[in-house]
Amino acid sequence: MTESPPCSLFPNPCFDTLEEDLLRGAHLPATTEERIIQPARNIMGSLRLPGDKSISHRYALLGGFAEGTSRFSNFSTGADCASTLACMQALGAKVRTLESGVVEVTGVGGRVTAPSAPLDCGNSGSTMRMVAGLLAGQQGRFTLTGDASLSRRPMERIRQPLEAMGARVQLTDGHAPVHLEGANLKPIDYTTPVPSAQVKTCVLLAGLQTAGETTVREAVRTRDHSELALRAFGARIARTLISVTIDGPQPLHAIEATVPGDISSAAFFFCAAALFPGSGLVFDSLGLNPTRAALLDVLTALGARISVVQLEEKHAELVGMVQVAGSAEGLRTASITGSLAARLIDELPVLAAIGPHTSGGIRIRDARELRVKESDRIALVAKNLRAMGAEVEEFDDGLDVPGGQMLHGAEIETAGDHRIVMAFSVAALRAHGETLIRGAESAAISFPEFFDLLDRVAER
Ligand code: S3P
Repeated sequence: MTESPPCSLFPNPCFDTLEEDLLRGAHLPATTEERIIQPARNIMGSLRLPGDKSISHRYALLGGFAEGTSRFSNFSTGADCASTLACMQALGAKVRTLESGVVEVTGVGGRVTAPSAPLDCGNSGSTMRMVAGLLAGQQGRFTLTGDASLSRRPMERIRQPLEAMGARVQLTDGHAPVHLEGANLKPIDYTTPVPSAQVKTCVLLAGLQTAGETTVREAVRTRDHSELALRAFGARIARTLISVTIDGPQPLHAIEATVPGDISSAAFFFCAAALFPGSGLVFDSLGLNPTRAALLDVLTALGARISVVQLEEKHAELVGMVQVAGSAEGLRTASITGSLAARLIDELPVLAAIGPHTSGGIRIRDARELRVKESDRIALVAKNLRAMGAEVEEFDDGLDVPGGQMLHGAEIETAGDHRIVMAFSVAALRAHGETLIRGAESAAISFPEFFDLLDRVAER
C-alpha cells in the first residue's frame, strides 16, 4: 500500500483569503467545475483525513468564546468551518492559521463585540444554528445570513427554543436572514421536535450563559460532540441517555487539541472500497465517536470487511485506525429506518448511491430530514440514480434502491450539494462509461481534497 501524506499538510484554499474575507464568510468560487469520473478497477491505499467538520465547528465556536488562546491541529479544511471561524473573528475572536495548518483562536472571554456587518454563514447550517445559540445570551442585535441554499433551510427550529429563553428572533417565512436580539436568558427544559445536534447545541450554548439549569431532551441521541467539547473547555454538563443539562453561567478555558479525521468524509471512501472485492483502504487517526460510527456496522452487515485498531481517546473523542476491504461475495442488502436513519443522516446519500451495486438493494425510511439539507437529497439521489439507468422508488421520507442493477455513466446534477457530488463520484467508479459531475467544486464545502485522494486510491 502507498503511504499518503496527511492532508492537513496541504494549504487550505478556504483559509488563504480568510484575512480579507473575515466579514463575508467562506464562499466557493462562482465558476462551476465539471469533473469526469472514470470507472475504476480497484481501490487501494492509505489515508489520513482532514479534521472532522462537526468537531472543528465546535472547537472554533468554543475557542472563540473562551478565555485564552486555543490551538487546533488537523482542523477541518472545508469551507463550512472557515465560515464559523470567520463569524467568530467578526465577533471579536482572533483567528490565525499557522504554517503547519494549526488554527490558533484567541477567544473573547465570554463577551462578543457587535460586528459592523451581518454574519455570513455561507453554506453552513451548523454555523448559523450554533452561532445563533451563542449570540442569544449576548447583549446586542445580530444578523446572520447565508447563501441561497442555506436561506432555504428551516430556522424555525432554533427560533422556538431561543424565544422561549427570552431572546428575540425574527425570520422571513421560517428562513434566514436571522435577526436576533440577545437577552438575559431564562433556562428551559426543551424537547427537540426532530432529532438535531445543531438545535441541541444551539440551546446548550444559550444555556451556557443562562443562570440555572437548561435541559435538552431528544428522542434519538444525536452526535454528542458539543457535550464532549464543552467538557473539554471546562464546562460541567450532566447527561442521561436522552437528555443533556447545563447549569449556567459557566466560563470556558482555551485548549490545545488535534481534531480526529472526519468519518463522514471517510464514508465516501469506505463505500468506494466496499464496491470492489479485492480492495483495501487504511485510515489513520479517524474519529470514531459512537454517535457517528453507525456506517461501520451497516457496511459490515452489507458484507464489507472492517476492522478497527489502535483506539484511543482525545479530549473524550474516540480515535482509531480503520481498515476496510471489499468481499468476494459482494454487498448484500440493508434497511435503514428509525433511529439508525437519524444517526446516519449524512451518509445516506452515498449508501443510496451504491444501492444498485448490492444484491438485495438499500431501503431508507424515516429520513425526511434529508429533504431539508443543503439540497433535497431524496429527490436528487433519485434523479441522479435514474440518470445512471437505475430503477429507484422515492418516498416522502426515504428511498428504495433495488439491487443487482448495472449503472451507466451520466451527467450528474448536484445543486451545489457537497455530499451529492461525492456520493455520485463513488457510484461512478463501478458504472459503465464515464460520469460527468457538474458543480464539483462544492466538494470543498466539507472536503477540498476529495478528488485528489480519490485519484490517488482508485486504480484504473
Ligand atoms: C451536524 C448535525 C447534522 C448533520 C450536519 C452536521 C452537526 O445536522 O446533518 O451535517 O455538526 O451538528 P442536524 O443536527 O440538523 O441533524
